[in-house]
Amino acid sequence: MNARAQSCPVQDLQAEGLVVGLYEGETQLTDTAQAIDARVGGLLAAVLAAGDFKGKANQTVLLHSPSTPIKRVVLVGLGKSGDATLETIRQAAGKGVTTLRDVNVKSVTLALTEDAPRGWAPAKPAGRQEVAQAVTEGALLALFQMNDYRTRDLDEIKTVDAVTIWSTGPSEEIEAGVSRGSILADAIRFARTLIMHPSNVATATRMAEDARQACEAAGIAVKIYEKADLEAMKMGGILAVNQGSEHPPKFIVMEYRGGAPDEKPIAIVGKGVTFDTGGISLKPGEGMEKMKYDMAGGAAAIAIMLGAARLGIRKNLVGLVPATDNMPSATALKPGDVFTSYQGLTVEVLNTDAEGRLILCDALTYAVKDKQAAAIIDMATLTGACVVALGTEAVGVLGNHQGLINQLLQSGEKTGDRGWQLPLWKEYNELLRSDIADMKNIGGREAGTITAACFLQRFVGETPWVHLDIAGTAWTEKERPYRPKGPTGTPIRAVLDTLENWPTL
Ligand code: BES
Ligand code: MN
Ligand code: ZN
Repeated sequence: MNARAQSCPVQDLQAEGLVVGLYEGETQLTDTAQAIDARVGGLLAAVLAAGDFKGKANQTVLLHSPSTPIKRVVLVGLGKSGDATLETIRQAAGKGVTTLRDVNVKSVTLALTEDAPRGWAPAKPAGRQEVAQAVTEGALLALFQMNDYRTRDLDEIKTVDAVTIWSTGPSEEIEAGVSRGSILADAIRFARTLIMHPSNVATATRMAEDARQACEAAGIAVKIYEKADLEAMKMGGILAVNQGSEHPPKFIVMEYRGGAPDEKPIAIVGKGVTFDTGGISLKPGEGMEKMKYDMAGGAAAIAIMLGAARLGIRKNLVGLVPATDNMPSATALKPGDVFTSYQGLTVEVLNTDAEGRLILCDALTYAVKDKQAAAIIDMATLTGACVVALGTEAVGVLGNHQGLINQLLQSGEKTGDRGWQLPLWKEYNELLRSDIADMKNIGGREAGTITAACFLQRFVGETPWVHLDIAGTAWTEKERPYRPKGPTGTPIRAVLDTLENWPTL
């Protein structure tokens, strides 16, 4: 489902359900709200006068006016106007549309574009395009559902069929914002769906097929390296992790050329562990089912390629997803085993549950050696330590290039995919010293997110690189206004924004 922009005078507006935002403590209705109020017989003013609605962020009130052309109005609070950002708008839009969906409204209209907040940075007011984009993102992302595995009572599932972003006057900016928001929501829907599939369905083979299909439709070239190819290339890391599996590994390579012909590509790398049991270093059973989301970085990489192509981003990109599950079996990798990575460095595996870095290291080498990447961004549900350090609010951000890190942090702030930087000082590298090989794959109990990044850093050399640890943010158990329980789609919007605002490296 996509959103569409509609413009007409309030006098002509008709809606099955209309979402209207109001700031906290505003007794006066804005001109537009006042005009809407007149259209629904003064219902809004009455609710405000009664004190039932204070406008606190995400507070909602559902009003009925069946005898008027606007059948229902959802008032949604935007909080204090001085605190409002684009994130406020996204959340309000999400709350508004789900409130209407839950009472079975099929067609929702949002009038939020008139309530422009100050933007995302304290000094920067939001433009109409940004606001329209935020409304669209919030609405479409909130309505995401995945019902592929239900076979009963399907008629009880409530879905919205049409989302309309309404404004009083025609505006190219609003149309552009709605179109961009729809593209982003679509890319995120692709990733969320793939992540939601259980691992018996979303195998590496299925990931590769879905990537191929979606990329080809978007004009992105795709090449899938098969197990035999990986053997011929000596991609020892991907093969080591896949060694215990019944399912063949895939290395998905996607290329989009939106930049100058001679410009080196930016590599977008994502961890595609379709299920992480831990391997022989088996994880505890409790909560293990969630490890189907260990391919969220890979799904994000595919989604970013799709989004970049559809937004027409003027950069050359190469998307890289090493995909396999991590299984214990008679043939599985064992603690103490040593393998040779694609780059040539030997790795002693002290814990088979630190598998993400083992498949990523080969993909990073491929980015550097085979694609001469100008820069690399990798995304991975890499460490439980990141969940301990930052919880579910922030992506762990580490890297070797402060300018690129700063841009990602800024893009995260703006898009709602927030990140927080952790240090990557060289002293941490001592923790990866192995007694028998060039390095070991774990650094011990301390600083787990940092030592994982140190491991990856050995494979990027001097290439500007940022690593995003999304272990805590790729999945949510708490329902949020536009992030239903399940896969969130983080950090797709932050990375796309970074690509569009690429710093000089
Ligand atoms: N996929 C996990 C990390 C993870 C944990 C993601 C929780 C999402 C939620 C990763 O492969 C892993 O198992 N990491 C180990 C590393 C350790 C053995 C050094 C971890 O974090 O425990
Ligand atoms: Mn693991
Ligand atoms: Zn893992």
